[in-house]
Amino acid sequence: MIIDGKKEAEVLREEIKKEIISIKKKTNRVPGLAVILIGDHIPSQIYVKNKEKCSKEVGINSNVIKYSHDVSEEEVLKKIKELNNDNSVSGILVQLPLPDQIRQESIINSIDPSKDVDGFSPINVGNLASGYNGIVPCTPKGCLMLIKKIEKNLSGKHAVILGRSNLNGKPIAQLLLKENCTITIAHSKTENLKEKCLKADILVAAVGVANLVKKDWVKDGSIIIDVGINKQGDKIVGDVSFEEVKDKVKAITPVPGGVGPMTIACLLKNTLECFKDRLT
Ligand code: GUN
Repeated sequence: MIIDGKKEAEVLREEIKKEIISIKKKTNRVPGLAVILIGDHIPSQIYVKNKEKCSKEVGINSNVIKYSHDVSEEEVLKKIKELNNDNSVSGILVQLPLPDQIRQESIINSIDPSKDVDGFSPINVGNLASGYNGIVPCTPKGCLMLIKKIEKNLSGKHAVILGRSNLNGKPIAQLLLKENCTITIAHSKTENLKEKCLKADILVAAVGVANLVKKDWVKDGSIIIDVGINKQGDKIVGDVSFEEVKDKVKAITPVPGGVGPMTIACLLKNTLECFKDRLT
């Protein structure tokens, strides 16, 4: 089975849109999302444009703040402080990667954790690691939703996560651990990678290596979630060799049209949740 992330994301966006209409009727207020985009990184520009478009479609007030590649960290921090104190802003997102003169840690730490729609701030990372409620990063949240469409009860399943990034690998592992999975986190230094993948009931690939996972790496009947977005010529491919793997497994996400659309839908959901938390 091929998991249709595009369709699932559409359903989620429709729910979000309806809820925003309903809240607007009662309060005359809508969520606001501020996105900071620095420099000329082409993929970032495309992602931000997409986030802005989808925000508007569901009724979120989207504000993109653009800076040139040589902006100072101080100036960006000043803007974030302003956004933290602005009541019309429910969520703040600073698009990564950042230019060298700006420290990612300092930027992420400056965002009010209750507006941190990426779920990257230490408070939200800590909440997730402790199993508490908090804001969950968008891609991991989308991955879990897709896995749960296929398998409601994940208790006791062996999940292998390829990749240990703060954006994807680590939070995906935390979420699946919370679902009572047994977790293996594999990365570039892992030995016998293929053998480890073969043990996975759920395999999440988030390393950014085109077509890394082959047919003889996956277990029959497993669930495969491909987070990779890799350019191969003029095509975008995932971390999994989709064509050769798809008939061996129970379910697999395609690239594009799998995890990607869910990431944006989850950003909208996080923005709505932050907005609702502030409505008193
Ligand atoms: N760059 C690539 N993915 C992401 C993401 O999920 N959030 C932010 N802020 N930047 C990114």
